[in-house]
Amino acid sequence: MQIIDGKLVSETIKTQLAEKVLELKALGKKVPHLAAILVGDNPASETYVASKVKSCAEIGYNSTLLRFDAQISEKHLLDQIIALNENPDVDGILVQLPLPKHISEELVINTIDPGKDVDGFHPMNVGKMVSGLPTYIPATPYGIMLLLEYYQIPTKGKHAVVIGRSHIVGTPMSVLLSRNAYPGNCTVTICHSHTHNLKELCLQADIIVAAIGRPNFVTADMVKEGAVIIDVGINRIPDATKKSGSRLVGDVDFAAVKEKASFITPVPGGVGPMTIAALLKNTYYASQGEKV
Ligand code: GUN
Repeated sequence: MQIIDGKLVSETIKTQLAEKVLELKALGKKVPHLAAILVGDNPASETYVASKVKSCAEIGYNSTLLRFDAQISEKHLLDQIIALNENPDVDGILVQLPLPKHISEELVINTIDPGKDVDGFHPMNVGKMVSGLPTYIPATPYGIMLLLEYYQIPTKGKHAVVIGRSHIVGTPMSVLLSRNAYPGNCTVTICHSHTHNLKELCLQADIIVAAIGRPNFVTADMVKEGAVIIDVGINRIPDATKKSGSRLVGDVDFAAVKEKASFITPVPGGVGPMTIAALLKNTYYASQGEKV
């Protein structure tokens, strides 16, 4: 069994990007600039956005963080996005989700310039991804693809079971894994809350991607010997032994499942850091007018 070290791979990617920034600077060119919008004070969103902004600084990107309170009007938020679309210094725009209920996420995403949509959520970019055209691939699935590639994990002809059908992870993941490319060429089953025989399907899986958002949901009795386990979950659960009173766990019962897996991502230190590395890659591409 090998533990997939997302922290190591993400650091490798960040080092490569930092070198590219130095090359741009040496040529007198502008460095990539990511603008992040955070609405409200959801603690998880605060943590994610803070680490995105910090990572930009670490590799020499510019970043702008625009914070608004949860009462911001939809119109005002859209105006902010339009201003970023029109600002030639800004290469990538991300609006951290979820948004307060009175704001339409669909409208917000549709307002982002597709050429600056480094989350890859705009319908034009989703359409391109599904069509296999160059675009910005959503950061979490893109990060997982980079991990599969880094560890040279065989995917051709494998049965991948993706648990979760969100637009951020499950749906794009299933598209990417079934592509005629490496990593890809998997036979993909996408499972969700209405799936009847989840355990049987998981037991057939060569690769499981767990993106449900429920702590320790995937247990050892659901996993075939030698399966590859990708855990997207980031769940905070109470733990009286910790100073903070809580700890992070994934969607997979790591301690038991690792005994059966060939490869497994830990939480933390697996998929999480790769999401940021992938976002930084997308931002670099956006700054250069390139796509994956
Ligand atoms: N909320 C949870 N994941 C993401 C993400 O990848 N991008 C944005 N913008 N919001 C998120």
